[in-house]
Amino acid sequence: MIETKIKQIVRDVNDFPKPGIVFKDITPILKDAGLCNEIVAALAAQLSEIQVDVVAGIESRGFLFGMSLANYLGVPFVPMRKAGKLPYKTVQHSYDLEYGSATLEIHEDAFLPGQRVLIHDDLLATGGTVIAASRLIEKLEAEVAGYSFIIALDFLNGRDRLLEFSPNNYALAS
Ligand code: PRP
Ligand code: ADE
Repeated sequence: MIETKIKQIVRDVNDFPKPGIVFKDITPILKDAGLCNEIVAALAAQLSEIQVDVVAGIESRGFLFGMSLANYLGVPFVPMRKAGKLPYKTVQHSYDLEYGSATLEIHEDAFLPGQRVLIHDDLLATGGTVIAASRLIEKLEAEVAGYSFIIALDFLNGRDRLLEFSPNNYALAS
């Protein structure tokens, strides 16, 4: 079962990047090409009931599987980046996450109005990051189709915060 495989391979690193945080290190997954393919197929299978026009992946770990997922689904991929990295005109939103704060940006022409955008990230913690991503999608008059994560940390209740934008919230492991 894919959840078991993910739980076995992801490494817990205590006190990174701050004391008290148990950091979920997904880099061991990336060494296993077969598992990476399984993950992409499993992420796509969870989305079979919803319409996805675009996948938006969040810098940096959301790029790792977000681009592959978009390719697998046959839809465009849009990068959401930390402030100051995108070259063209952007819109931005600041947010707090489990261990700090950041600003997320997107190109102003990333979506067509009304497009249904799936937000992909490796991990859901407080939800601050994907809520900022959702606000950017709304600012560009597109729609949040749903959320796709490899891991959701349920004890932080991030999932409840996402219902404001979409009921479609998928994770392969918790
Ligand atoms: C991590 C992770 C998510 C976010 C989740 O990213 O990849 O994007 O934190 O936390 P939240 O649900 O509390 O917002 P990070 O900002 O550490 O950047 P990285 O992907 O570049 O490592
Ligand atoms: N992003 C936010 N919290 C995290 C955690 N505990 N492990 C990995 N990435 C994270």
